[in-house]
Amino acid sequence: MTNLVRVGIAGTGHSVPPRVVTNDDLSKIVDTNDEWISKRTGIKARRFVDDGTDCSHLCGEAARQAIEAAGLKPEDIDLIIVGSLTQDHLMPTISTLVQTRLGCTNAGAFDVLAACTGFLTALHTAETFVAAGRAKNVLAIGGETLSRYLDMSDRGSCILFGDGAGAALVRPLDDCGGQGEILRQVLGADGEGYEFIHIPMGGAKTPPHHPDYDSTEHFIRVAGRDVYRFAVNKMTEMIREITEGYDKDDIKIVVPHQVNMRIIDAARERLDWPMDKFFVNIEKYGNTSAGSVPIAFDEAVRQGKLEKGDLCVLVAFGAGLTWGATLIKW
Ligand code: UT7
Repeated sequence: MTNLVRVGIAGTGHSVPPRVVTNDDLSKIVDTNDEWISKRTGIKARRFVDDGTDCSHLCGEAARQAIEAAGLKPEDIDLIIVGSLTQDHLMPTISTLVQTRLGCTNAGAFDVLAACTGFLTALHTAETFVAAGRAKNVLAIGGETLSRYLDMSDRGSCILFGDGAGAALVRPLDDCGGQGEILRQVLGADGEGYEFIHIPMGGAKTPPHHPDYDSTEHFIRVAGRDVYRFAVNKMTEMIREITEGYDKDDIKIVVPHQVNMRIIDAARERLDWPMDKFFVNIEKYGNTSAGSVPIAFDEAVRQGKLEKGDLCVLVAFGAGLTWGATLIKW
């Protein structure tokens, strides 16, 4: 598809809650240990929210930083798109809470649901609006408070996830001073893997007042091995697809979904790309689902990993199953 308007990223931001939960902390409540978690996942710690902080607060703070980094004001924003599976309420949306708290008085707002691919789905949608001339200044946000859906007696899942959010401000490239052009985006899905990562109950099929409702099924369940295989294949495939026509030396960094260090490393090995191309912060935050890619991307930007003209790949996948990738020229 040829864009009518070329689109760029004018600013980024991220927010994680202050409470650090280490592997040793988890080993006091579930049968696990730092050595197993570190070796099998690369995770050393994650952040959990406390009561009183919700996903909308993390998303709002990440968005506030992105607006500031772009040199804009909240009233300049005309659309807010949030990707999250941990909405504060089943309805209405996180995006409307972000809209009112930040004072984005001229913005429309909606949420998208694509689990760990939530941010890239929001970014893809934001780019499409701007490319079509339907909006000028769009916030694409991804965030989660998955700690609220963790079964702390299930060591196969509770050690994996953390809370956090990230954001990008998408504008016409001319208004970004030529920075951060979104060159390519792809999204995909395969509902055959619907139950690989899911929260079995609590939705409209079995709401809490349903006779079959079981509160122990209102937690995230992960078929770890199945997801592992899918993730390695999909990450490899997506990076190949989004960089087609480019040489690996043309790509400065890849910001992968921070899912598991072994998954990232296995994909990297199949591609035969060097590890220093991959921006990884999983040791600090674990897997923050829709927050994972935009948090890491903002850290990479703020650490000066990208210079003008560098090519950067964002890649994510998750429940659904869903996946997506973006190629950006910084
Ligand atoms: O963003 C998408 C969501 N993320 C995912 O869905 C995660 C993808 N999958 C993974 O990252 C990995 O599959 C896991 C980290 C979840 C598991 O790693 P694994 O190498 O696939 O381990 P496994 O499930 O095959 O388990 C190996 C052993 C088992 O013991 P036995 O049967 O060999 O005696 C498990 O019971 O490790 C045991 N185990 C643990 N031991 C200590 C599983 N979880 C733990 C734990 N601590 N937390």
